[in-house]
Amino acid sequence: MIDSTVRDNRLLVGMDTSDDAGVYLLEGNTALVQTLDVITPVVDDPADFGFIAAINALSDIYAMGGTPLTALSLLAFDPCDLPHEAAQEIMAGAVEALSSNNCSLIGGHTLEDPEIKFGLAITGTVNAGSQVTNSSARAGDMIYLTKPLGTGITSTGVKGDVAPNGLIDESTGWMKTSNRDGSAAMLQSGVTSATDVTGFGLLGHLFEMCRGSELGAVLDLNSVPVMKGIDELVKMGLIPEGAYNNRKYLENFVDPGEISDDSLLPLFDPQTSGGLLVAIPPEKADLFEFTFSEADVFFARIGLFAEPPIGLFAEPPIVIKIVSGF
Ligand code: CO
Ligand code: CO
Repeated sequence: MIDSTVRDNRLLVGMDTSDDAGVYLLEGNTALVQTLDVITPVVDDPADFGFIAAINALSDIYAMGGTPLTALSLLAFDPCDLPHEAAQEIMAGAVEALSSNNCSLIGGHTLEDPEIKFGLAITGTVNAGSQVTNSSARAGDMIYLTKPLGTGITSTGVKGDVAPNGLIDESTGWMKTSNRDGSAAMLQSGVTSATDVTGFGLLGHLFEMCRGSELGAVLDLNSVPVMKGIDELVKMGLIPEGAYNNRKYLENFVDPGEISDDSLLPLFDPQTSGGLLVAIPPEKADLFEFTFSEADVFFARIGLFAEPPIGLFAEPPIVIKIVSGF
């Protein structure tokens, strides 16, 4: 954790809570929301890769309840390896994704690097005080997830040449799906706290919400949506390194009960352009589900936040308890 060196009372959300984006009061009620995300290729098609990188970067703005305005891009590649047309396709994919989210690309930079990387810094706005942080959940809030898990495992399966085409298409489709509509719907239905699921996996990002909100959580494994076909890849051992790192990092904080290691791995899977993880007060749950259905946004209710020392928690360090069916 890095302490902000400049003490500035216009800084509404800084780096101390590991939130999705920083929030800075500009003037009046308007605050800037700013974020940066860079990824390595997760699909073979350059245009899809550019599209996904942009949707992934925009997601942090949406997770804060903000509206994206402008983007700056960063493309790193080896000109001897990557044809000029492919680089152009990456950019074209990104521009398409940005414009469908009303965000303008206003500049960028390319540099030579043996490994392809592409990412964007996004600037948006939010009404000061209305930003949705990852550290404001309340005990009793329902936990919702708005995309199924498995993009990291699928990409690993693609690299091993064993991922079924149906699964590749589904995973690509989810990564290309903007969290814009989900963000609008959560704002309409009394969200108390939210983040998006990316590199730390579902459990890593849920842990950050718990830590920031000083709460525990109970998660129902049977309700967690996982893409069809992921189980087979897990059985074949096609697990990204990051999933094991996430599991190691969280080992003292997650109580899996009797649940097998294999069925937990998708919950640690690092996601690219994953869904929103949303806390909703129980009395707003019906409104949330109605609003999401009306907006045609996928959602699954996967658990609830709870006071840390509840009966289900075996020991004080356990923050997340996983059960199989409520
Ligand atoms: Co994020
Ligand atoms: Co991010």
